[in-house]
Amino acid sequence: MKNLFIRKPDDMHIHLRRGEVLTNVLLFTSNIFTRAVVMGNLQKPIITAKNVISYRMEILKQAPKFKPIMSIMLVNSTTAEIVKNAYLAGAKALKLIPENTSINSTDGVSLIDLEKFYPVLKTAQELGMIFSGHWELNRHPLKEFIPELKREVAAISYLEKLIHDIPGLKIVVEHISTKEMIEFIKRAPKNVAATLTAHHAVLTIDDVMDKNGKIVNPYNYCKPVPKSDNDRKAVIEAMTSGNPKFFFGSDSAPHLIVKKESLKPPPGIFSAPVALPLLCQIFKTNKALDKLEKFASEFGAKFYGLELNKEKIEITRREWIVPSQHADIRIFMGGEKLSWSVV
Ligand code: NCD
Ligand code: ZN
Ligand code: ZN
Repeated sequence: MKNLFIRKPDDMHIHLRRGEVLTNVLLFTSNIFTRAVVMGNLQKPIITAKNVISYRMEILKQAPKFKPIMSIMLVNSTTAEIVKNAYLAGAKALKLIPENTSINSTDGVSLIDLEKFYPVLKTAQELGMIFSGHWELNRHPLKEFIPELKREVAAISYLEKLIHDIPGLKIVVEHISTKEMIEFIKRAPKNVAATLTAHHAVLTIDDVMDKNGKIVNPYNYCKPVPKSDNDRKAVIEAMTSGNPKFFFGSDSAPHLIVKKESLKPPPGIFSAPVALPLLCQIFKTNKALDKLEKFASEFGAKFYGLELNKEKIEITRREWIVPSQHADIRIFMGGEKLSWSVV
């Protein structure tokens, strides 16, 4: 088996954090990926042009050749003018994490109230900005709680309504985890696409929780939680199908070990150090290595309206054991063997 040369990839969904964690995680991405869509769900979220500029500067100071694709969070105070100014400052995506569905989303807009933000979303549509969303519904309008495993499917009708009401909006449904959502994306118009992570192609709910919903491995805990084996297979099928609606977004989301081992571990899997080798392994196992470049390096850029990267990267056939941690952060698949390497 020969080494593989592909166009350098882009990671269309990543959490890099800031400060010390940023310093500790950034190179895993910037050494391999030309670009990445950087999520702004920081403790103090990225919500304005000014925030975008200072966050981009902080990243570039440490990785001058890297090309971060900036985003702002849709929060309750977001206005059309804020979106316009953020776009002019370089933000390419407007990101929704609905209220309390994931990390740092207490001020996230509720899916139930999305109509109130149509003027803002119409501005995004006019600008050609991507509406990037974490589509999970945690409560019904009458406030009944929705169990974790049902939240993604429960969000589909809200997504359908948005697609109908603002038909020109470019929508990326992030980190999708169910067969139902995958089928929905396939049927949706071509301005609707989705990112897929590597971990949703590897994990099922049994790797995360027991039958009572108690977390058995906090390092496999992420949102949306991995689902059944059928859902996992649907993720692989979509990933390796060559359908341009599906592209790579690692959703690499570092959390410190002390937090992960606390009573209420935060969701998020730090997968950046294994991203490309793991994808390679998944594509190889599923006899689809010829589709890897499109999934990791082309479909995402095209959907975002960006030029394709020109440089290539060599992926070598070499076994290595994934280190268990880096700087107080556990690495996804730590201790396991991978057969491809990018160093
Ligand atoms: C992400 C994080 O830690 O910021 N966590 C996760 O489980 N995916 C947030 C997100 O993408 O929802
Ligand atoms: Zn999310
Ligand atoms: Zn994310």
